[in-house]
Amino acid sequence: MSSEDRIPTGIAGLDRVIEGGVRDNTTMLVVGSSGTGKSTFAMQYLNYGLEHGENGLYISMEEPPEQILREAKMLGFNLDGYYEKELFFFHSKGKDFVKLVDEQLPALVEANKNYAVKTRVVIDPLTPLIWAVQDKQEQREIITKLFYTLKQLGPVLITTEEHASPGETIGEDVLIPIYMSDGAVHLTYRPIGGAFNRALEIVKMRATRHGEEVYPYIFVRGVGVVVRTTPLVSAEDVRKYDDVFDKAIRTAADLGANERMLERLVYVKENWSYPFSPKETLQIFFESQGLNDTITKEELEKRREETASQITEPEVAESAEVIQQDVEPVQEEEYSQDDEPLIEIDNLSELEEMIQ
Ligand SMILES: Nc1ncnc2c1ncn2[C@@H]1O[C@H](COP(=O)(O)OP(=O)(O)OP(=O)(O)O)[C@@H](O)[C@H]1O
Ligand SMILES: [Mg+2]
Repeated sequence: MSSEDRIPTGIAGLDRVIEGGVRDNTTMLVVGSSGTGKSTFAMQYLNYGLEHGENGLYISMEEPPEQILREAKMLGFNLDGYYEKELFFFHSKGKDFVKLVDEQLPALVEANKNYAVKTRVVIDPLTPLIWAVQDKQEQREIITKLFYTLKQLGPVLITTEEHASPGETIGEDVLIPIYMSDGAVHLTYRPIGGAFNRALEIVKMRATRHGEEVYPYIFVRGVGVVVRTTPLVSAEDVRKYDDVFDKAIRTAADLGANERMLERLVYVKENWSYPFSPKETLQIFFESQGLNDTITKEELEKRREETASQITEPEVAESAEVIQQDVEPVQEEEYSQDDEPLIEIDNLSELEEMIQ
């Protein structure tokens, strides 16, 4: 699926790490314990759609619409102007769930069938339904039907309260909704103070190359939640990082690194998956291998001679050849031209310049 088919969630920072947004007609679950920011996520998501010409459907299982709109205002989203024009509510309680899922929502989908405007759907939270249906099989069936029906309206965001026991990564009661959703993000709050006490992780996102880090997030009045993500590595970045590696490999060869180390550098190049330049890592690695010390011309010549004598052994020569095929070979002329200055490294910053 191309990026044009993505629908931005409006949750600042999240779209960066899910290829630009969610896919239409899919469900995304936001799981977190009390106070992690689930309702803020839901309002931000709904508000983005409303501000971009979509309709919104809010399914509430506990609170009446007036209370939800009041709470939205407290979170910084004034949705009053959309009420019953673009934003609609379904308020369902207790035993009504079965009727909601079996009759009311399918009827709504049917009535909306030929309606061109996309409807963004929110359920915040799904928890009362999970608790109302004790039998796991029945729970699974009702959630499957609910998700299947709502997805026909547009992209759906569902929140679920988590009550994880100590030692559990994710509470057992949310496993079925996670399993049934197309995407799931997990919000955690560790009251330990500091900027990193709230964090988001993407548990899954079907058909999406998504970020795999633990992302801290903050609440910003007027915005909602801001997830502090780093954009994923683009093809252009990959090319830039490859250049850094190629230069580093040439530098390492010039500094007399043996084939084993060059081979390792090629391996690191092929496996680099971080969204930042490998430059610093390479500098640290070079330093750990004694490749950034002051190297005199004589020392450099000595290292080259040593390397040259090593590659007369047949099996080493073979592996050197492999490296030369994989990596852009170091230009022979660079060595033979007497008038070309030899590489001298005095300190880290010079090495840095060379790698740049
Ligand atoms: N501007 C802010 N600065 C710091 N924290 C904030 C800010 N706004 C909201 N919060 C935090 O967000 C929490 C409420 O967020 P929200 O209602 O979205 O959470 P929730 O996961 O839906 O909670 P619940 O499970 O109780 O419904 C507050 O308890 C508060 O800790
Ligand atoms: Mg809430």
